[in-house]
Amino acid sequence: MDHDSGAGRQQYLDKIIIRGGLALHGEVQIGGSKNDTVAIMAAALLVPGKTVLHNVPRISDVNTLNEILRLLGAEVAFREDGALEIDATTLRTSVAPQELVRQMRASFNVLGALLARFGHASVAMPGGCDIGSRPVNFHVRGLEQLGCHLTLEHGIYTGEVDRFQGASINLEFPSAGATQHLMIAAAKANGRTIITNCAAEPEVVDLANFLNASGAKIEGAGSTRIVIDGVEEMHPAEFSVIPDRMQAGTFAIAAAITGGDVLIKNAVIEHMRPVFAKMEEAGVTITQDKAGCRIQRTGRVNAVDIKTMPHPGFPTDMQQPFVALLCLADGVSTVTETVYESRFRYTTELVRMGADIRVEDRTAIVRGAERLTGAPVTCTDLRGGAAVVVAGLAAEGETVIDNLHHLDRGYEGIVDHLKALGADVTRTGTETTTVSV
Ligand code: EPU
Repeated sequence: MDHDSGAGRQQYLDKIIIRGGLALHGEVQIGGSKNDTVAIMAAALLVPGKTVLHNVPRISDVNTLNEILRLLGAEVAFREDGALEIDATTLRTSVAPQELVRQMRASFNVLGALLARFGHASVAMPGGCDIGSRPVNFHVRGLEQLGCHLTLEHGIYTGEVDRFQGASINLEFPSAGATQHLMIAAAKANGRTIITNCAAEPEVVDLANFLNASGAKIEGAGSTRIVIDGVEEMHPAEFSVIPDRMQAGTFAIAAAITGGDVLIKNAVIEHMRPVFAKMEEAGVTITQDKAGCRIQRTGRVNAVDIKTMPHPGFPTDMQQPFVALLCLADGVSTVTETVYESRFRYTTELVRMGADIRVEDRTAIVRGAERLTGAPVTCTDLRGGAAVVVAGLAAEGETVIDNLHHLDRGYEGIVDHLKALGADVTRTGTETTTVSV
């Protein structure tokens, strides 16, 4: 096991330095999905015995959740072959460590799992990227419909429930997190739970697959109606996390913005359709064969209009790197963010690099420029970090990026991957995503 060596603090001092202008060429293997892994890790708390997870990304959000699980009493360790083992038999408390929970959004899912295991739990309001208000009211309302009494005091939710009771829950908005959380809570409920207007994200489907592999009875994941028949017992499973569609999309955009030719070896094409459809509309060539998805582009892309939507619409998480691509498009693009109310903070960083972007309410109007120029810029949040990285790859001269702790939350080994594809990129300090705490 690796241990924290102060690397977390170092992330605030590190910088990524990119000398842009080189076309990316070669192959890249995508790591496991962040948003899938963190939901599955919380779900593993339902299961006494040793859950084994393959393809877990070595990112700081996983490290944070590992630490939360450990402080709850679970045994958590990365094996030498990279698999993550979580043994929740030994859970000893249902009070989650406040400071760590506040660092990431998905930690809130431990509330439903702990309530199912102990009948009582306390979990702080979660954190996550600063991209809007991000309330948890759908989670709370859903848990209450399942029979739980919840109170919020001093920023901490405390819940009591004898056993969750199956219920019909209609979500006001197809929230990925609320759908995942309520699936976890209902897996061992008494009776049938039906969630309508639920999220259909691949990470929701994969969580259902994991829960089913662990003995749950869930049908309909991937549609807008999920049916969960509560089971008495669950058992440990060995499971492999899906490839990260946001990482795959980021590398695809990096290939396109640099006029490159990159094979993404293990992207799941079904998961990539909303992003690839827009890339093709922008003039990027995407071919698929047994080896993977090949992304090719020479010259400027065309301007396109985008509106983010829940899956299978265009994913909000790709809005930010895609805007970087459109900064160099031929023409004017409009990009409307419908999922979060303030996910455009990073655009000021792109403007520093010569981009012409005007944000009006929830729409960014992006007038394609002939060129971008390197500048000192910051990661405003995880995907905002991805946006400045891809912009830097295409910019003339040197781009120096700081505030890397955001990027480290979700991109495993991004500097090494980009180097292997021929980019001129270095990072000062250590890449902390390889550190497990
Ligand atoms: N919302 C509420 N109340 C709730 C829950 C959500 O109003 O109780 C709102 C949110 O404020 C937002 C919208 O509903 O405006 C959608 O939020 P959702 O719950 O779907 O998002 P999430 O579960 O908090 C996950 C990902 C995000 C990704 C969204 C949408 C994780 C850990 N995070 O967040 O990923 O943007 O789904 O697909 O799974 C990222 O990876 O960069 C990231 C932000």
